[in-house]
Amino acid sequence: MNDTKFTGRCLSVINDLSLDEQMYLYRKTKELKDATINGKKTDQFIVNDKNIGAYLVFLESSTRTKESFVNAIKFHNIKTNIFDAAHSSFNKKESYSDTFKMLTTYSKYSIFIVRSKLEGVTRWLKYSLSQLSERLDLPMPAIINAGDGKHEHPTQEILDEYTFLEKNNFNNNEIHIALIGDLNHGRTVHSKTDGLKIFKNVKVDLIAPSKLAMPEYYKNKMKQNGFDITEYDSIEKYLAQKKVAKLWYFTRLQLERMGEDDLKNASVFAKSISFRNEFFDKIPEGTKFYHPLPRNREYPTIPFSTDNTTLNGYDEQAMNGYYTRTVLISMFGGQLGKDFNGNHNKTIKHSSDFIEEVSAINKTKPEYKIGTKPVIDGIVIDHIGKGENIETIWEQIHNIRKILNLNIVSSHGVYKSHKDGKFKGVLSLPDLMQFKELQMKKLAAIAPESTLNIIKNSVVQNKFRIHMPPRIYDFQEISCKNPNCISHPNHHEKALTEFHKTSDNKFICKYCDKVHTFKEIWNI
Ligand code: NCD
Repeated sequence: MNDTKFTGRCLSVINDLSLDEQMYLYRKTKELKDATINGKKTDQFIVNDKNIGAYLVFLESSTRTKESFVNAIKFHNIKTNIFDAAHSSFNKKESYSDTFKMLTTYSKYSIFIVRSKLEGVTRWLKYSLSQLSERLDLPMPAIINAGDGKHEHPTQEILDEYTFLEKNNFNNNEIHIALIGDLNHGRTVHSKTDGLKIFKNVKVDLIAPSKLAMPEYYKNKMKQNGFDITEYDSIEKYLAQKKVAKLWYFTRLQLERMGEDDLKNASVFAKSISFRNEFFDKIPEGTKFYHPLPRNREYPTIPFSTDNTTLNGYDEQAMNGYYTRTVLISMFGGQLGKDFNGNHNKTIKHSSDFIEEVSAINKTKPEYKIGTKPVIDGIVIDHIGKGENIETIWEQIHNIRKILNLNIVSSHGVYKSHKDGKFKGVLSLPDLMQFKELQMKKLAAIAPESTLNIIKNSVVQNKFRIHMPPRIYDFQEISCKNPNCISHPNHHEKALTEFHKTSDNKFICKYCDKVHTFKEIWNI
């Protein structure tokens, strides 16, 4: 088997492929589709190696994704394994990690295609299988997310983008698209946030009733990606204005992911996101409808009457699933990729300068006190929650004491700064002369922008400004609050919790992308 930059890769979210890699995949798909349709030779795409085993692990229903992968794998002449999830040891509460570790050992090289209700499974497998492959000296398997809960669906994104490019004669200068339907629970539209970046100018119209609106996280990301976005709460309102897109991407109501209240309103929601015959005259000429399918036959967002009209783009879109997935397996199977010429994703380096030692030269003696007596030796944490309201500051003081287990002689309080009149908390810890690095990191994640002063003989010897860390991970006391995340404690997978800071000082879970404030990540 060829070892390339694409073997052993994990595709959890569309961004796991760089834009150059995505464009390479689209170019190769065009070559494969043209060759197949014109009866030309396609050998150059075929992996043809029975030592390679592809495992389809579908823990949620699927027709198109699963069957197009099955056909793609057959094209490649590699070992095809369809995991029998219903009769597997998942029923004996076996973990994902243990299950996949075992499957990894059955082939010289494995390609896993995984669909799950839980979110972030493939990201977790990337970590746990890399440990196994290092230990047993096995090549790292390739892992493909075939849809995880309401999170992402990168291979659907690939076939959708390929379809849009094809419609645009492979010109990626601009796109104007309407996303219609259950934008809240639908994973295919979430992947559009990054997938549409292959186009240079992107205008997105979001059409959904407010309960099914695109989550803030994805809208913000679209804006950061430079997309021009506008929201409407029904197709009717959308058609009442002038700038109607020619590409309409529908999604069905994701009933299986809705709570009881939303389910009661299903027929009302369906009305605002379903195309009706009376709208035909109002859409621009050349409009095409797309849909990841399946279409719910009770609430069809695209009426059956459009199937045999020029509006129907969804049948060819579904067909492209076979070609794009065949090329993806060819890349991850080591066959395609040698002629790739472009940038791969850069590994993100997390800076560690969030604990900043600043000058402690003090002309005057600090005023820190323990009770009424000045602190002579010890640690004082100052500026806790500076500028926040009094309750929040008390909460932070309480959290510092609890999480850092500071049940020692101390004094604390909330004060008004004499410099600027803002409130701040101060926690004085006499007799404590050292703060370990781990505690310092925890403090940064509990009370960012506080200062830590080490006092000896009534003088501040060392002073640290503690900023919000770029990453918070591996502490016992933190967890993702998304109950469907693989790392959530209820699933007992023991996936190491990890959060990454966003540009607006929020923290997203490494697995499921759920947004948390720094306070929300703590289990207190
Ligand atoms: C989509 C999915 O599973 O997220 N379907 C698919 O893969 N073709 C969309 C959906 O189920 O609505």
